[in-house]
This record gives sequence, C-alpha cells and structure tokens, in this order.
Amino acid sequence: MRILVTGGAGFIGSHLVDRLVERGHGVTVLDNLDPQVHGKGTTAPRYLEGHLKAGAVRFLHGDVTVREDLARALDGVEAVVHLAATVGVGQSMYQPHYYTHTNGNGTGMLLELLVSRRDHVKKLVVASSMSLYGEGAYRCPGCRGTTAGERTTARLEAGTWEVPCAGCGRDLEPQPTPETKPAEIASVYAATKKHQEDLCVSFGRAYRIPTFALRFFNVFGSRQSLNNPYTGVAAIFLSRFLNGRPPLVFEDGLQSRDFIDVRDVARAIQLAAEFAATGEHVLNVGTGRRTSVLDVARALAGHLRIEVQPELLGKFRAGDIRHCFSDPSRAAAVLGFRAEHTLEEGVPALVEWCRGEKADDAVERGLAELKSAGLVQ
Ligand SMILES: NC(=O)c1ccc[n+]([C@@H]2O[C@H](COP(=O)([O-])OP(=O)(O)OC[C@H]3O[C@@H](n4cnc5c(N)ncnc54)[C@H](O)[C@@H]3O)[C@@H](O)[C@H]2O)c1
Ligand SMILES: [Zn+2]
Repeated sequence: MRILVTGGAGFIGSHLVDRLVERGHGVTVLDNLDPQVHGKGTTAPRYLEGHLKAGAVRFLHGDVTVREDLARALDGVEAVVHLAATVGVGQSMYQPHYYTHTNGNGTGMLLELLVSRRDHVKKLVVASSMSLYGEGAYRCPGCRGTTAGERTTARLEAGTWEVPCAGCGRDLEPQPTPETKPAEIASVYAATKKHQEDLCVSFGRAYRIPTFALRFFNVFGSRQSLNNPYTGVAAIFLSRFLNGRPPLVFEDGLQSRDFIDVRDVARAIQLAAEFAATGEHVLNVGTGRRTSVLDVARALAGHLRIEVQPELLGKFRAGDIRHCFSDPSRAAAVLGFRAEHTLEEGVPALVEWCRGEKADDAVERGLAELKSAGLVQ
C-alpha cells in the first residue's frame, strides 16, 4: 500500500515509518517540522535520512491545515494515518487556538479532501489519547461504588491526593480503564483529541471507510522531543537527570499511568493500517500495567546509576488526574495487539537517545509558563 503518515517526522510517526517501510509499504510523510518539536531545522530529521536516500519515503514539508499541502500528500494514497497534532496538556490551556487550529482544522481538512478520494482510501487511522478519559476507572473498596468524587482544590491544597468515592468518601482503588468509560474532558488538548476521534469515526461510518481511533496511553522511547517541555514525563525526567538536576515531581509521585513503548505503539498502528476490517473501532493502546511517576524516575536513575533524588513539589496542576491505565482487552480481541516491551526494557533506548541529543532543559521554562498563566498551585 501507499500510506500517508501525517506528523511522520515526529516521535511516534518516525517509528511507524520505520516499521511500514520494513513491511514493504510505500510511505508519504507530511510534516511541518514544528519548531517546538524539531528545533529550528527545516529539513527532515536525520533518522528519516536513510529512507529518503533509499527512495522508500516521500517527504513533504507542509501543513495539515493547508489544503494544497495535504492534497499533494494524498496523491496515490490507499491508507491514511493521521498523527500530526500539537501535543501537550498544559500548553493547550494557554494556547487554545493553536491546539484547536492544528488538531481540529487539520482533521477537518483531511476529511474534506478524502470525500473525493473515498474510493481509493481503504483505511483511516487517527491518533487519539487516554487524556480524554480524565480520571481512569475506579472501584470503592468499601461500598463497591464506581463513581469518582471530585479532587477539590481544598483537598489538593491539604495534600490529599487520592480520588474519593462519591458514595462513601473512602479512597477509590484504580481499575483498568475500558473504552466504554465516558470521556471527561479536562483540558483543551483532550477536547481536541476527542473531537478528532469523533470527526473521523462519523466520517468513516458515513463513507464506509474502515476507521480506527487509537487511544494511546503514555508513550515513551527514543526520538521523543526533549525540546518540548509539555510532553512525555519520562523524557522530561531524563533531560533533568542528564543535566545533573533532580526531576520535579508533582503531588507525591504516587500518581500512576500506563507507560507504553513507542515500538509497541508503532506496531499497533501498523496492525490497524493493514487490518482487513470494516466499520469503526475505538481502541486503547496501552500495556494494562500501572506505574507510578516515582517508579519512572527510579527506573531511569537505576539505569543511569545515579543517586539524584526526585524533588517532590507537593504542587498540583489544574486538570491533572490521579490514576489512569488501560484495559487492553479490546485491542487484543480486534487486532490481536498486546504490548511486548516493559518500561525497564525501554529505558536503555530512551537514555541512549537522550545522550546523543542536546538535552536542552526546557522543563523550567515550561513550568514558568504554566505558573505565569496561573495553572500551577
Ligand atoms: N506521545 C504520547 O504519549 C501520545 C499519547 C497519546 C496520543 N498521542 C498522539 O499521537 C500523535 C503523535 O504524537 P507524538 O508524541 O509523536 O508527537 P510529536 O510532536 O513528536 O509528533 C507530531 C508531529 O506532527 C507535526 N506537526 C505538528 N503540527 C503539524 C501541522 N500543522 N502540519 C503537519 N505536521 C504537524 C510535528 O512537526 C511533529 O513531527 C499526536 O496526534 C498525539 O496527540 C501521543
Ligand atoms: Zn464508597
């Protein structure tokens, strides 16, 4: 197949491109090389150079919100993987227009151009996100209720971090989050990801283009942008460690997420792109394992053999959730996808990548911007 990967110069996109080329597909990449992700360069990143030289990838430097760029990229394409997006929860709260523009208008433009190409395009895959769940699923060890109460500002200011049961007030126990959990939008970024998902699923259904919306959990691995202070806790911690400084941890560090290796994510996307499916499928792409933020810091420090202790800020961010990890069973049933790599296994690749990059410590800058917008307390 000829497959268009929008955002194919990015973190997840570039790993996907490697995999698609290996599988013998023709790949077109459309990417605007957003300076926030790529620095000031205007040429494709070096990890794509081999594919360009071999003629395996057609690279177009262009914008998904610009009709002509996208129309050129869709030439001869049989499947589309739409990854291009602005990515970051905190930043989306003070640059909402940048987020709605790229993520909303980019998807709208793509779908509009697919109308006249619908007989040629056999698959649409869109990157969605676990962020749309808000808090993950929970169960009360007391009354067995599953409804989460609010983490009020008063609770958080008192350093009470866990989510209370709406029924009896006890601390809830985190459960795997299934796709059926209703979205609870807590950021502009999450709203744009849900919007992209809804746009693609409704469009796919109307035009009978098999469509996958893949809800990625917390992705980590090589090529994760270290210039971007808004994404990827593992990369952020690592860039702090490599600068000889302690990682800054919000709350008490026991908040947990589902960390999935970028190579597993690339494989899930490839399976979806190749899968002879009909209909629309919304799938979690996670490991099903729960890891605390502090454990991420420990895994990195352990690998680097350094003693730097994470700095617990006791501060919290507007809209932050406490726990969310995936129920991976639907992706296993539909695609036969199961994550293969553990966090510990993925750390060396991430460290090697960071050592080769200038770990420009942008984290403090990101934190300062959040503070000046009144988004950190
Ligand atoms: N990294 C994660 O943990 C994670 C989790 C859930 C969902 N996602 C989603 O996965 C997708 C890829 O994310 P990533 O982590 O690889 O981010 P990334 O920033 O590394 O990659 C995004 C790519 O899109 C490009 N891009 C941005 N705006 C564009 C535009 N207007 N036109 C063309 N290209 C543009 C950027 O230059 C970049 O190369 C995104 O849709 C993101 O929302 C990522
Ligand atoms: Zn209860």
